[in-house]
Amino acid sequence: MLEVGVGTGKNIPYYPAEARVTAVDLSERMLLRALRRAMQEGKNVPLCQLDAQALAFPDHCFDAAVATFVFCSVPDPVQGLRELRRVVRPQGRILLLEHVRVNRPGVGRLMDLLNPLVVRVMGANINRNTVANVSRAGLVLERVDDLGPLGVVKLIIARPD
Ligand SMILES: C[S@@+](CC[C@H](N)C(=O)[O-])C[C@H]1O[C@@H](n2cnc3c(N)ncnc32)[C@H](O)[C@@H]1O
Repeated sequence: MLEVGVGTGKNIPYYPAEARVTAVDLSERMLLRALRRAMQEGKNVPLCQLDAQALAFPDHCFDAAVATFVFCSVPDPVQGLRELRRVVRPQGRILLLEHVRVNRPGVGRLMDLLNPLVVRVMGANINRNTVANVSRAGLVLERVDDLGPLGVVKLIIARPD
């Protein structure tokens, strides 16, 4: 399995002992923190410094891919999602946990207005339509669950084929 944008490795403790997970992140500092977490957890997780938009892996080489709160900051999210589609085998799964633009006119518009400031301060976009981006990347949506109020946090499960 592939985890993209592993950050400090918060998901690592949840991987079953038998899972073979490779994790990538753009940031060397984050990868060092993830490495420390993996060692504390006694998990062997190969870590690579890679951009989600250009994954240096062969086609269809992973059973699944996971990303949590990553596609808000990838500059071209559709390209990043296309890369997940390419590296996951056709019958595999792509699991995303993302905060997205709220689909209500008032709140959504407010998120659009605040987005440039938030990007400047935190480097993440708050008004991404990640569900639509998943479809734009050619992935097949299997399930979308609202996990937060107003649907701001979504669990998205998609297939490459
Ligand atoms: C908000 S953090 C989330 C970290 C982790 N997934 C979690 O849930 O705790 C976003 C992570 O995505 C990484 N990231 C942002 N853009 C990226 C890109 N283009 N390619 C790979 N990683 C990226 C950041 O370095 C950061 O570690």
